[in-house]
Amino acid sequence: MTMLHIPVMVEQVVRLLNPRPGACMVDATLGIGGHAERLLEELGPTGELIGLDRDGEALEHATIRLKRFGSAARLVRARMSFLRDVVETTGRQEVDGVFMDLGISSLQLDDPARGFSFRSSDEPTPLDMRMDRRSGETAAELLERLAEPELVRVLREGGVPTPVRVARAIRARLPIATTQDLLAALAGVRLPPRRHHPATLVFQALRIAVNDELGELDAGLEAAVDVLAPGGRLAVLSYHSGEDRRVKNFLRQEARGCICPPDLPVCGCGRTSRLEILARGERADATEVSQNPRARSARLRGGERT
Ligand SMILES: C[S@@+](CC[C@H](N)C(=O)[O-])C[C@H]1O[C@@H](n2cnc3c(N)ncnc32)[C@H](O)[C@@H]1O
Repeated sequence: MTMLHIPVMVEQVVRLLNPRPGACMVDATLGIGGHAERLLEELGPTGELIGLDRDGEALEHATIRLKRFGSAARLVRARMSFLRDVVETTGRQEVDGVFMDLGISSLQLDDPARGFSFRSSDEPTPLDMRMDRRSGETAAELLERLAEPELVRVLREGGVPTPVRVARAIRARLPIATTQDLLAALAGVRLPPRRHHPATLVFQALRIAVNDELGELDAGLEAAVDVLAPGGRLAVLSYHSGEDRRVKNFLRQEARGCICPPDLPVCGCGRTSRLEILARGERADATEVSQNPRARSARLRGGERT
């Protein structure tokens, strides 16, 4: 099970978060607990890790993996946008670190029944893509509902380079119920060649929209800085340029503080700097990339609460 998802840049993450024995940290995207396990080792028996994941299956795997840490590991099924509330329910106002490892895990990606991935040879599987399968719209339902301009925006935000062409091809083949239906709809579209299958970016864009990953990220980042104690650390790993840009802009804004237009003579927003930036898009080293292909696109950013 632990081989299913190899944690990315784990030593750089630990260095950035600087977990001290007895401290309390949040892993807002627990997955199967790879980074959490390493953090708990550093936090020691008097420390605590609050782990969140919106996916019940990930949580089950993490619970088994982190069992040996007993009550030091508090695992909660929740979205990162509820991070502030989750911390409060543990009786704390502040924590010493928050970590986010964005996107999906290999556990989710490699399960064909979840509809996140595809192979032309696969049996057709429902186009679901929900991280939390208890509620919300599936990717098939989303495609059915969106008008062309909305679908173009979803594809563009997800990094698809020819969003109009792709949107039209998809809409011409509705209803699209399975991964194979989506592949068939894309078969006639000329997509720029990629290292992986050219449809990868389309699947990624739909996944991001189905799970409102950008909205979750914005809310999660805001909540993370709210709950960090002075001197506490934030670390975020992203794998997609749209997400990474959002994290970079958020950190810059939190470091700058004031968001008034530069020509305003006196500050009217009253915002002050809350973060000192410590990591500006660090990458995995060549050895790690050769052993774990997921590490290739990873960017690590983070800072310290002032
Ligand atoms: C890249 S994996 C994390 C892997 C983990 N660091 C490990 O070492 O096993 C991302 C995880 O975050 C979860 N996730 C994604 N968005 C989330 C959100 N908004 N709130 C909570 N969990 C989320 C996914 O379900 C997935 O399990």
